[in-house]
Amino acid sequence: MQDKTVKKPWGGRFLEDPDRVVETLTQSIQYDVKLYKQDIKGSVAHCEMLVKQGVLRPEEGERIVEALLEIEREIEEGVFQPSPSLEDVHMNIEARLIEKVGPLGGKLHTARSRNDQVVLDERLYLREEVRGIVEGIRCLQKALVERAREHLDAIMPGFTHLQHAQPVRLAFHLLAYVEMLERDRERFLDCLKRVNECPLGAGALAGTSLPIDREWVSKKLGFSRVLANAMDAVSDRDFILEFLSHAAIAMVHLSRMAGELVLWSSPEFSFVELPDSCCTGSSIMPQKKNPDVAELVRGKTGRVVGNLVSLLVVMKGLPLAYNRDLQEDKEPLFDTVDTLKMSLKAMSHLYTKLQFNVDEMEKRAREGFTNATDLADYLVKKGVPFREAHRMAGRLVAYCLDKGCTLEDLSLEEMRGACPMVEGDIYKVLDIKYGVDSRTSGGGTAREQVDERLKAWEDRLRDI
Ligand code: ARG
Repeated sequence: MQDKTVKKPWGGRFLEDPDRVVETLTQSIQYDVKLYKQDIKGSVAHCEMLVKQGVLRPEEGERIVEALLEIEREIEEGVFQPSPSLEDVHMNIEARLIEKVGPLGGKLHTARSRNDQVVLDERLYLREEVRGIVEGIRCLQKALVERAREHLDAIMPGFTHLQHAQPVRLAFHLLAYVEMLERDRERFLDCLKRVNECPLGAGALAGTSLPIDREWVSKKLGFSRVLANAMDAVSDRDFILEFLSHAAIAMVHLSRMAGELVLWSSPEFSFVELPDSCCTGSSIMPQKKNPDVAELVRGKTGRVVGNLVSLLVVMKGLPLAYNRDLQEDKEPLFDTVDTLKMSLKAMSHLYTKLQFNVDEMEKRAREGFTNATDLADYLVKKGVPFREAHRMAGRLVAYCLDKGCTLEDLSLEEMRGACPMVEGDIYKVLDIKYGVDSRTSGGGTAREQVDERLKAWEDRLRDI
């Protein structure tokens, strides 16, 4: 019988080539070529398992592995040009293998489907990338901790509602981000447990009748366990969703930090001077120095949040098991990985190089009655119920606003007009530095508290 079937790896039951538009729609090679290393690593392990199980002869296995490693080099050197007509990275590599070793290449796909192959590649890829992201977080934490140590005694206004609230240490403010980033790091490490499970051997959806050894291949590839249900293994992408949601949260943290630097570098704040190397100018206004790096980190948060939503929508309502919709998981995943890695680097760079205008910060910390709570607490210590102390201090603030002065500018007599129990020691209490150091409660702004937490971080980050 003459073979008139389509010349594609899956062409046996087809008599017509796909239309151009179909080829354009179905191909994913332009982005999934990124997975070539993982694909080859997975194929080598699969091939070795087939040899061990007696499905392939040792010399067949050796020839296939050798050719796969050659293909890896060809891709690295740009000699091998993958073709969109072969859809994806898996079929491009397999076709090249067959070109190299002939029909023997066709044995590699024994007891395997692209469905378990693609998710294997993704798990290998993400496992590596998560480890890199966790390191990137550590680098940013280290940059923040170093700047915090340098500015342990710098005082700045702490804000609520972006209004002056209470004075804090700059180090304390920076350490708040270190804590947030630590939770991001823990979330990533935690999702690694579920990323690092082996789908290989699931086949298309139901396993295989061939004598494979899933445990062996899983160990060989460094997975911590084998996925227990073949249908689950090929059809869920929850490990990617989990990663994308952790990445979205981390990126929101970075976006807040970046947004703050945009604000702090504005002339209205003047809390920081950004390095020239992290800014750009305007094409029309010669005086401009724009905080683009920080703005772009903030702006790119949109796509990282979008990538999570995008895959959630792809997954919603998908019947078991594999559906081609799942091919749409890759671009959101790759884009989030690249964007997050770059943003972590950019933020580390910014924090390492920027200058804090500590004099300006301290000057501003004295404005806006940031010591009013200290006055109320002082009254509480003299036996006044807090609510009453609050009112008394509030009345004095109103008096000062009227007069155009600060609380510490008032004479003892003026203060006693609203708060009769005030004594000479009040002036010491109204000093912002005293106020900052008086908050000795755990997690507060006092020097010992911040210094202790800083030391703990320095210990933890010592070997980074
Ligand atoms: N490129 C495909 C993907 O990313 C590979 C799996 C194709 N499987 C199939 N049954 N067509 O999901």
